[in-house]
Amino acid sequence: MLNKDVAKLLNEQINKEFYSAYLYMYMANYYAEQSLSGFENWFDVQTKEERDHALLFRQYLLNNGESVKLLPIDAPTQIYNNFREPLVAAFEHEQFVTASINSIYDEAYQCKDFRTMQFLDWFIKEQGEEEKNADDNIKKFDLFVSDAKGLYMLDNEMKARVYAAPSLVI
Ligand SMILES: [Fe+2]
Ligand SMILES: [Fe+2]
Repeated sequence: MLNKDVAKLLNEQINKEFYSAYLYMYMANYYAEQSLSGFENWFDVQTKEERDHALLFRQYLLNNGESVKLLPIDAPTQIYNNFREPLVAAFEHEQFVTASINSIYDEAYQCKDFRTMQFLDWFIKEQGEEEKNADDNIKKFDLFVSDAKGLYMLDNEMKARVYAAPSLVI
């Protein structure tokens, strides 16, 4: 069993990770509708990663004898005015998720819940990578997309991203 507050935050994180998956699927849909299949692919891969994160939090709770309460997932409704805006929104969203993971870590730390801190270590590192990837996308966009040819080339690069299962096994 885990501390009640830690377990509650971990349970809520399942929802936040599934919402992340929803948000990135929404962005993938946006790019698909614009025939940017590379950007679509990049966010499709991201969607799968977020689903994986949700499942890891679920598994951790179950492994610790906690029940899992599934909460409703909000539908993304953002309107994007250009191809750059989802990239910025993705970066901001990752910063939000980092803060959320940090607050669970902080609660676990207060409770001397070393097991949960160790479990969260992987996510602390993962969030560093997530923020960097999202920031890189914005930087590449700003560097290369001054015309249709640049957009075409960046779209081709985004096409190369492949899904890999998470390195964390619990
Ligand atoms: Fe995530
Ligand atoms: Fe993420």
